[in-house]
Amino acid sequence: MEVSFLRVRAQIAVLLLCWAGICSGIPDPRQRDSLMQQEASRQTGGAMLLTEAEQRLSARLLKLKQQEMAGPQFPPSMHFFRARPLIQRSPIFSLLQGMPKGAALHLHDLSIVGADWLVKNVTYRPHCYICFTATQSVRFVFSARQPSPLPQCSPWKLLEALRAQMNSTADLDNSLLQNLTLFTSDPEVAYPNQDVVWSKFENTFLAALGLLTYAPVFKDYFYRGLQEFYADNVQYLELRALLPEIYELDGAKHDRAWTLKAYQDVARQFVNEHPDFLGARVIYTVHRGINSSELIDVVKEAMRLQKEFPEVMAGFDLVGREDSGKPLWYFREGLSLPAELGVTLPYFFHAGETDWEGTDTDGNLLDALLFNTSRIGHGFALTRHPLAKDLSRKMGVAVEVCPISNQVMQLVADLRNHPAASLMSEGHPLVISSDDPASFGSSGLSYDFYEAFVGLGGMSAHLGTLKELAINSIRYSSLSPQLKDKALALWQRKWDKFISENSQ
Ligand SMILES: *[C@@H]1O[C@H](CO)[C@@H](O)[C@H](O)[C@H]1NC(C)=O
Ligand SMILES: *[C@@H]1O[C@H](CO)[C@@H](O)[C@H](O)[C@H]1NC(C)=O
Ligand SMILES: *[C@@H]1O[C@H](CO)[C@@H](O)[C@H](O)[C@H]1NC(C)=O
Ligand SMILES: *[C@@H]1O[C@H](CO)[C@@H](O)[C@H](O)[C@H]1NC(C)=O
Ligand SMILES: *[C@@H]1O[C@H](CO)[C@@H](O)[C@H](O)[C@H]1NC(C)=O
Ligand SMILES: [Zn+2]
Repeated sequence: MEVSFLRVRAQIAVLLLCWAGICSGIPDPRQRDSLMQQEASRQTGGAMLLTEAEQRLSARLLKLKQQEMAGPQFPPSMHFFRARPLIQRSPIFSLLQGMPKGAALHLHDLSIVGADWLVKNVTYRPHCYICFTATQSVRFVFSARQPSPLPQCSPWKLLEALRAQMNSTADLDNSLLQNLTLFTSDPEVAYPNQDVVWSKFENTFLAALGLLTYAPVFKDYFYRGLQEFYADNVQYLELRALLPEIYELDGAKHDRAWTLKAYQDVARQFVNEHPDFLGARVIYTVHRGINSSELIDVVKEAMRLQKEFPEVMAGFDLVGREDSGKPLWYFREGLSLPAELGVTLPYFFHAGETDWEGTDTDGNLLDALLFNTSRIGHGFALTRHPLAKDLSRKMGVAVEVCPISNQVMQLVADLRNHPAASLMSEGHPLVISSDDPASFGSSGLSYDFYEAFVGLGGMSAHLGTLKELAINSIRYSSLSPQLKDKALALWQRKWDKFISENSQ
């Protein structure tokens, strides 16, 4: 209908041009403009009305983007580990750092603080022991006395004593850093395929776990994470957290409720000290390597925790490599418990973080929606599932797009080809996040915003796109309607200030 109408209009236009003596097959330029405008208005932020000051800043950003595209190296087309120094010099990146970005909705508990802080601060604390595994990795533990040995690891050595024997600790510290992050100067050689990069990725968490689960470090780490995001102009976080067992120097151990309460206390303290920050909520996660009967128990515990800690707990998710773990459908018995019992346990499923079409993993997208997920983590495969895509749009289920993560974990090499580029061009509900910034050598949200704005968005994305992405992060958060209003008002004040400072 629409198309044939356009065709008739085009024919009439050609007839008129012929009648006027300028007969040619060139399509009507006014019609062309109108179609291009219609298309542009569909993209994320395409319908956003911009003030004059915003339009000035938008024009400036587009000019900077043209310069970046004309340069000899285009950062979004390169591996992030190589692109990082170029991005750091980009004037677009500095603007994005200063821009209030709203909320970071897809983050993991063990990777929100730069790994150098773990080495330079945490491993220098007293009572820190290290052992060396047969696979060239390390494990740590804090203990008041010599800890009992770990299987497959050398005897524990006190780091302080080890360092005291060395003339220079630089090499040791650098090797510890390499154990705690994926960042490296030659990623293609270090990580020839997805299996290698995932194996190293999971190993970095095993290495960090003994440091991060020590009670004083656990609280400092989270506080420091909030500081890093606050410094990057992020106003609120939702953290997927394993709620691991936290220990004290004498070996005493805490339960999950203690850990959740620690998150709540630290977040409250941070908000008291930074009234222009809105805090954090936790999505309890479990590794998808467990079996279906274990998941039933975990879901039961999640329901108890949700009831006991409604302020800090946002819901539940499963983590770990989707391609090698069990699909959501395998866990259907446990995942349907809350609905059966009439208990509220919002889900925030990772789904479709895969290149493999038509596999069980690929089925997670539709299953996540059938289980009433509140958002979709990654949704990398969503563009291949028209029905799931429609449902996600109709249900207002936003996709959490993490461009750098998807590139480092080798789902896509050139970020101009990221599937979310097409979701952005049709205004699909989405937010930008950074997943595990410390593992990828990034921090906060600005690097991922850069990749989304310059790489995924290309010349189409403008200031309206950025504005809608920031507003989306609040709109699709787990906050109550009242807190969303408060968050939007706080964000708007910061946004107005940002515009007035950067639009001359
Ligand atoms: C580590 O950081 C904390 C603040 O989080 C500080 O109080 C402490 O002195 C630092 N320790 C070392 C060894 O740098
Ligand atoms: C450490 O320094 C001392 C004195 O400068 C030197 O004799 C020794 O060989 C050095 N050891 C190493 C491992 O470099
Ligand atoms: C981890 O640290 C150990 C001990 O310093 C070192 O031998 C090993 O090469 C490091 N592993 C990586 C992947 O850098
Ligand atoms: C699940 O794992 C637990 C603990 O490892 C085990 O006892 C149980 O038999 C397993 N159940 C199934 C159905 O595999
Ligand atoms: C999902 O939501 C629908 C509509 O509210 C409800 O009928 C259904 O039981 C829910 N399913 C699950 C698994 O929560
Ligand atoms: Zn994730």
